[in-house]
Amino acid sequence: MRPLRHGYTNDTQGDGVVVVKRYRGGIDEALRRATELEVLERLPAGLPVPKVLGVPEGALHLEQLPGMHGQDLIDQGLARPVLRSCGELLRRLQQVDVSRVFPGTSAGTGWVVVHGDFGPNNMLFDQDTFRVTALLDWEWAHPGDPVEDVAWCEWIVRRHHPKAVDALGELFGGYGVRPSWARRRQAAAARCQGFVDRFRAGPAAARREWQDNLAATLSWAE
Ligand SMILES: Nc1ncnc2c1ncn2[C@@H]1O[C@H](COP(=O)(O)OP(=O)(O)O)[C@@H](O)[C@H]1O
Ligand SMILES: [Mg+2]
Repeated sequence: MRPLRHGYTNDTQGDGVVVVKRYRGGIDEALRRATELEVLERLPAGLPVPKVLGVPEGALHLEQLPGMHGQDLIDQGLARPVLRSCGELLRRLQQVDVSRVFPGTSAGTGWVVVHGDFGPNNMLFDQDTFRVTALLDWEWAHPGDPVEDVAWCEWIVRRHHPKAVDALGELFGGYGVRPSWARRRQAAAARCQGFVDRFRAGPAAARREWQDNLAATLSWAE
């Protein structure tokens, strides 16, 4: 087992066949594991998500999927095809019946399956076709507003890949909709505020990081 790159919270290792994801971060570990497990088991076939292979306490065993990490491809100057593919997959995800994944949420609410940390940071791609081979890290999934995931994907690009901001048109082109900047900015700021609140009792460094992220988000113009 070797540690996998581009993890942010948890201890994630793989041997090429199986990934062992151990939930870390100190807050809501059991809830995040339960969310990821439930959603992976309920999403319909056809979406590029790993099969659950085992459920040891405090961890999940997942099928290790192939592909190049989205962050690495963007760093190689390939933001345009990567973001188009992100948008296309998001459109497909939002066609899933939300009540199948989150029983108790009726489709009539206008809510959809929100991944909750949607972006190239949690996706692998075929390096020739740029098709998404893996959409990972479902621990923040919830029923919610369709703007949330597209706004967060944009946020990841603006905050972590500023040179790729010019390629964001591809994200909206693939998705098929470009929600207003006011709604996108509000959705991204709300997620940052959620993390500020989450870390209110510490750790202080994490709280400061999210306060900075929130301030940056509110300072952006489209
Ligand atoms: N099933 C999987 N197949 C292939 N790579 C994976 C898989 N699960 C995780 N990874 C790799 O490990 C990284 C971290 O996993 P992730 O679930 O995103 O944890 P974190 O919550 O810590 O970000 C991913 O960005 C990806 O590179
Ligand atoms: Mg992740």
